[in-house]
Amino acid sequence: MITVPFIITASLLFRKYSRKAYREVRNNVSEVNSYLSENLSGMKITQVFNQQDKKIQQFNKVNKNLQKSYIKEILVFGIYRPIIWLLSMVATILTVYLGAENILTGGGLSIGAFVSFYVFVGQFFEPIQQIAEQFNTLQNGFASAEKIFDVLDTKPDIEDEEDAIELNEFKGSIEFKDVWFSYIPDEWVLKGISFKVNPDETVAFVGATGSGKTTILQLIVRNYDIQKGEILIDGIHIKKIKRSSLRKFVGQMLQDVFLFSGTVKDNITLFDDSISDERVIEASEYVGLNHVLNRLPDGLNHEVRERGNNFSSGERQLISFARAVVYKPSLMILDEATANIDSETEAIIQESLKKMMNISTMLIVAHRLSTIQHSDKIIVMHKGEIKEMGNHQDLLKRKGLYYNLYQLQYDNQEVIESV
Ligand SMILES: Nc1ncnc2c1ncn2[C@@H]1O[C@H](COP(=O)(O)OP(=O)(O)O)[C@@H](O)[C@H]1O
Ligand SMILES: [Mg+2]
Repeated sequence: MITVPFIITASLLFRKYSRKAYREVRNNVSEVNSYLSENLSGMKITQVFNQQDKKIQQFNKVNKNLQKSYIKEILVFGIYRPIIWLLSMVATILTVYLGAENILTGGGLSIGAFVSFYVFVGQFFEPIQQIAEQFNTLQNGFASAEKIFDVLDTKPDIEDEEDAIELNEFKGSIEFKDVWFSYIPDEWVLKGISFKVNPDETVAFVGATGSGKTTILQLIVRNYDIQKGEILIDGIHIKKIKRSSLRKFVGQMLQDVFLFSGTVKDNITLFDDSISDERVIEASEYVGLNHVLNRLPDGLNHEVRERGNNFSSGERQLISFARAVVYKPSLMILDEATANIDSETEAIIQESLKKMMNISTMLIVAHRLSTIQHSDKIIVMHKGEIKEMGNHQDLLKRKGLYYNLYQLQYDNQEVIESV
């Protein structure tokens, strides 16, 4: 019985150190995994910039950390198990020694009692040894469970307010009232933005990169909460509307179109089987995606590879147009893709944009001013502020920022066409 406190002490110490060791192992395993996944998908960039040696060094470093933490874990367990074993030996030897002494000096202990005591000590320690083995597995499990609970306990940045309402209908009116917003405290990205969009209107945002156009679109689907001012959706404060119900009415066509693994059709219907093939074909023709599909041997059933990298960015944008048309949202949000659009796809995109403006309310960030000439309202942004607002003709007459931008693109156009 003397050994019991030692066993408990050893176990408590083991618990503390082993949990720490396992936590380290888990963290390092995820470190190695994320390093691998990041670098395998970015392999081409590494090769283009000839950074292989540096990357290999970095990998060796995270790998070494993992190795170290594994060794530490084994070390902790390697000390604990022998200690338990040692304690059981000490107890056995003490029993034999004290028992034998008692019998030899005639202390009244019978040989039968001595033998059974000896057997009991063995039986007492056997389960303790076994528990010690399992304890190791248990600690491993606890460390993993901690990580899982960490993920489960992660709160979304933006939560619905308790009295948030379900939006049953969205006519498509949006109002910004003196909206101030920053991603990083005190670095204002939007400074006092006010504008109003009426149902079925098309409103375009133009301005240099970084002027805050994408940010405005993000705020309308409430990917972020604003710090000052008000955003009204059909006259209702945006924070009073359930986020999921808001998004039901919004079709987003963003700069980086995300495609899932599956067929082109799956990506248009978003795996909703209740959408008929006819509707998908109709939508594809409406947005001009059929020109792209005709080139593929299996059309709508063509497989989309991981993240859609077997489609050009223009083609991906067209797929997202078809997706939006199938779902007939009350509000369409479009952030025009800028990079890598071949002139043929570009012409198709322009054509289908013109048609889509008639479907519902549309907010569009356009880089080619020719796209947006027919919008009801054009908002010219500069460093987080609205500098000009009006339709194409009004803005040209003002001879301000928009006029200059237009001249610039117009001149380029002429140069390109005369070459
Ligand atoms: N997630 C983000 N975190 C921090 N800053 C951001 C983030 N997204 C955009 N920004 C910054 O906000 C400003 C406006 O960006 P953005 O709205 O994307 O401009 P635009 O679409 O007009 O090019 C830029 O200065 C940009 O660096
Ligand atoms: Mg942008």
